[in-house]
Amino acid sequence: MKSPTAKRQDFLDRARPILDKDELEIQPFGTIAKLSIALAEDVCRASVENLNQLVADTMTLRDMYKKHHWQVAGPTFYQLHLLYDKHFNEQSELVDAIAERIQSLGGISIAMAHDVAETTIIPRLPRGRQPTSAQLSRLLHAHELVLLEARTMAKQASTAGDDGTNDLLVSNVIRTNEQQVWFVSEHLVNVPPL
Ligand SMILES: [Fe+2]
Repeated sequence: MKSPTAKRQDFLDRARPILDKDELEIQPFGTIAKLSIALAEDVCRASVENLNQLVADTMTLRDMYKKHHWQVAGPTFYQLHLLYDKHFNEQSELVDAIAERIQSLGGISIAMAHDVAETTIIPRLPRGRQPTSAQLSRLLHAHELVLLEARTMAKQASTAGDDGTNDLLVSNVIRTNEQQVWFVSEHLVNVPPL
C-alpha cells in the first residue's frame, strides 16, 4: 500500500503538463492515411507528392510578395505596395487550399519554413532590397515555374481520375497565377509618353 506521500506525488504527477513528448508523431511524413474517398492509395500518394512540391513553391511565391510589399521603392511605390499585398493574400488562400487538399487525400502537407526552403525550386532571393524591375522579373519567373508544374500536375491528376485535385489546380492555382502574371507584367510594359 502506498504511503500518503507517494499518493500525493501520484496526484501531482497527473496534474503536471506532459512536456517530454516533442518527438511523438501520429503519422510520419510521406505516408497516406487512407480516407474513404473512392481513390486508390497510389493515386492519393502521387497527388500528395505533386501537391507538396506545389505548396512549397506557392509558400515561397507568397512570401516573395510580402518581401516586395515591404521593400518596394520608387514612383510606383504605393500602387505596387498595395498590389503585392493583394497577391500575397490570394497566394495565402491557395496555400491553404493546396495543404487541405493534401490532408483530404490522406497525406501530410509541408508546413514549416525550413521544409519549404529545402523543397522549393524557386531560386533563393537576396536578403537585401532590390529595384522594382528585379522584383517584377523574379515574380514572373516564380509564377512561370508554378504554372509549368501546375499544368503538368493537373494533367497527371486528370489521367489518374483525381478530379478534385485537377479542379483545384485548374480552377484555383492556374487561373489565379495567370491573372497575377497579367497584373505584374503590365508594370514592365514601356508605354511611350503622350
Ligand atoms: Fe503591410
